[in-house]
Amino acid sequence: MRLMDEELFPSTPGKIKIERAHTIHRQLYRCFASTSTIFLWALFLIALAASYATFQSFVDSSSRYFAASWGGLQWEKQVRASAAPRRPGGLSVLVTGAAGFVGSHVSLALRKRGDGVLGLDNFNNYYDPSLKKARRALLDGQDVMVVEGDINDARLLAKLFAVVPFTHVMHLAAQAGVRYAIENPASYVHSNIAGLVTLLEACKSADPQPAVVWASSSSVYGLNEEVPFSESDLTDRPASLYAATKKAGEEITHTYNHIYGLSITGLRFFTVYGPWGRPDMAYFSFTRNILQGKPITVYRGRSGTDLARDFTFIDDIVKGCVASLDTAERSTGSGGRKSGPSQYRIFNLGNTSPVTVPALVGILERHLRVKAKQKVLEMPGNGDVPFTHANISLARAELGYQPTTNLEAGLKKFVKWYLSYYGYKARNDEVTRTGSAKIM
Ligand SMILES: NC(=O)c1ccc[n+]([C@@H]2O[C@H](COP(=O)([O-])OP(=O)(O)OC[C@H]3O[C@@H](n4cnc5c(N)ncnc54)[C@H](O)[C@@H]3O)[C@@H](O)[C@H]2O)c1
Repeated sequence: MRLMDEELFPSTPGKIKIERAHTIHRQLYRCFASTSTIFLWALFLIALAASYATFQSFVDSSSRYFAASWGGLQWEKQVRASAAPRRPGGLSVLVTGAAGFVGSHVSLALRKRGDGVLGLDNFNNYYDPSLKKARRALLDGQDVMVVEGDINDARLLAKLFAVVPFTHVMHLAAQAGVRYAIENPASYVHSNIAGLVTLLEACKSADPQPAVVWASSSSVYGLNEEVPFSESDLTDRPASLYAATKKAGEEITHTYNHIYGLSITGLRFFTVYGPWGRPDMAYFSFTRNILQGKPITVYRGRSGTDLARDFTFIDDIVKGCVASLDTAERSTGSGGRKSGPSQYRIFNLGNTSPVTVPALVGILERHLRVKAKQKVLEMPGNGDVPFTHANISLARAELGYQPTTNLEAGLKKFVKWYLSYYGYKARNDEVTRTGSAKIM
């Protein structure tokens, strides 16, 4: 204010220079002095800031689009080719979790009989991602493409359904494992709840709507004590966050069936094992430790009872998955609208012959020809249940499901795969290491 006063009333009047400065400042003053002009300037600045922000978000989203590992004409061509059936009347299946244990086996089985298969997996590091990449290499060899992406990516899912009219979705992507929930509970919500809803949203909006077959879990039986577990049993006492998210998944899929006419089949798998299995599961980590001469921890129930599991061989599970796809009725809706009631099913896929953990260790010792060093501890309260046992009459009646591999035979196949994958050589009387893990 002081500066302005001095210039408006110069101490040396008559000098041209001062006179010119005086004129400029007077004009500036006129511009700024009126409140309406100030208001207009403010509006102008706000508009400028807003258009800058819009431009920035456009730049951000475009760079995200261009940085994405998917999209483009060539990519769409590969997606279409992978999902196209190779036999008349073949299915076109989107397999989520295709780089996982069950997903890779189901994808290979479908491709083998001439169905179109497109895989989707986010290759997360819950366990060694190099194993997932090796499974992908196997699928690549059979012309099955696995898109790297997350089931929470609604844009990617919309794109996939726009490019391919999938007849079926085999949904196997999930955060598996019971104990990891203590460490990372959010990962269960991310994949098993939010991801499931995002996937179902894409399925319900697709035209045609696919039939959905998805993996629930035997863990939904939680603290139930009456065995064998039947589909009609109550499942309202989960013992882990994993089980709770699978149970929630059963309710969520029911909602999409009810509102949008999506055909839904939920499969409660019972402890699946076999070649290319999951390193976080006991039979796998026991094998690793036994071969490395490290101790294994065997848990027992509170009253000293042995824990038991209804171990189910991967080939039997694959047959159950494929039979579910084959018997799934079409969804009745299209583009988000239901036009009639549609199928909703839940099946146990187990083996119906539980084996105790010490018996499992005994079988591994025989196949590996190495004695295990065992530490026996009481089971901690971290979500594991003492036993599982499936009643499979419903799956037998409706899917023709009949498991044929017992634990002895199944573990023999697993051990053979393990030794060859991780570079061991089995001789008559011992197992020796021949090199480092093979990455295919
Ligand atoms: N193996 C078993 O004993 C067993 C038992 C009961 C239920 N199940 C269920 O069967 C299904 C398959 O299990 P699995 O043993 O093959 O497990 P897995 O971990 O080997 O396979 C799951 C795959 O899904 C992927 N994935 C996870 N979250 C994802 C996401 N948000 N987006 C995209 N991909 C994602 C992972 O990278 C992984 O490759 C899971 O739903 C699991 O809960 C398995």
